[in-house]
Amino acid sequence: MKGIILAGGKGTRLFPLTKNTNKHLLPVGKEPMIYNPIKQLIASDIRDIMIITSRENMGDVVNVLGSGEEFGCDFTFKVQEKPRGIANALSLAENFAAGHLITVILGDNIVTRSIRPYIDKFKKQKIGAKVLLKEVLNPHHFGIAILDEKKLISIEEKPTLPRSNYAVTGIYMYDNNVFDIIRSIPTSPKGEYEITSANNVYIDKGKLTYDILDGEWTDAGTIESYRIANDMLYKINNQIIDGDYDEYSI
Ligand code: G1P
Repeated sequence: MKGIILAGGKGTRLFPLTKNTNKHLLPVGKEPMIYNPIKQLIASDIRDIMIITSRENMGDVVNVLGSGEEFGCDFTFKVQEKPRGIANALSLAENFAAGHLITVILGDNIVTRSIRPYIDKFKKQKIGAKVLLKEVLNPHHFGIAILDEKKLISIEEKPTLPRSNYAVTGIYMYDNNVFDIIRSIPTSPKGEYEITSANNVYIDKGKLTYDILDGEWTDAGTIESYRIANDMLYKINNQIIDGDYDEYSI
């Protein structure tokens, strides 16, 4: 299994904090934001990690992260020239993935409890994809799962009239078909390749599973959610909480 952290974008919703640096390097608790997804991957025994960011921010990101030696992992860096969406960023990891299953984390997704149990489940699943859902109070800000009983029938990206409160978090697990799927999806009205479109192809093929994420989760991409992310990580001293989620599941 290899790990991919997507850390591009302009961070406009956090302006002016992001005027001079990448959103994912801003402090959350006592560490840069991107440390949380890195620690999640390492806690799941994933040590071969690609970081994808914009050309403007790559210098800062490399300066902060280095080779990976101090984390006990190995970083590979890749530039996304233009912000053309999450799926477009992920497509840059095709050669890196090279036959391995991948776990993809959006660099602004902050999680307190280890995601290892879900990754272990996906390793047994071997093919297809897995997403992690979390109930939220502001569903129009996220990709939202449409569930029929417990069956995931579709995902709607930032719907004006959300059909559930279950957000699709920015933690995704894929087999290598994801790259062919990304080549097949159209761009959104914003001209971006949405990860939700790729996930919907997996759903249509009957190849997408989901779990409800245990523990606390937030994105940190807006001023409000950035504050929540800070509170979450301060409370746990930026340490990932271990444990089998079955003990705590909702
Ligand atoms: C992205 C995805 C969205 C997902 C969210 C999680 O949105 O497009 O489906 O729910 O991440 O953080 P973004 O925050 O990049 O607009």
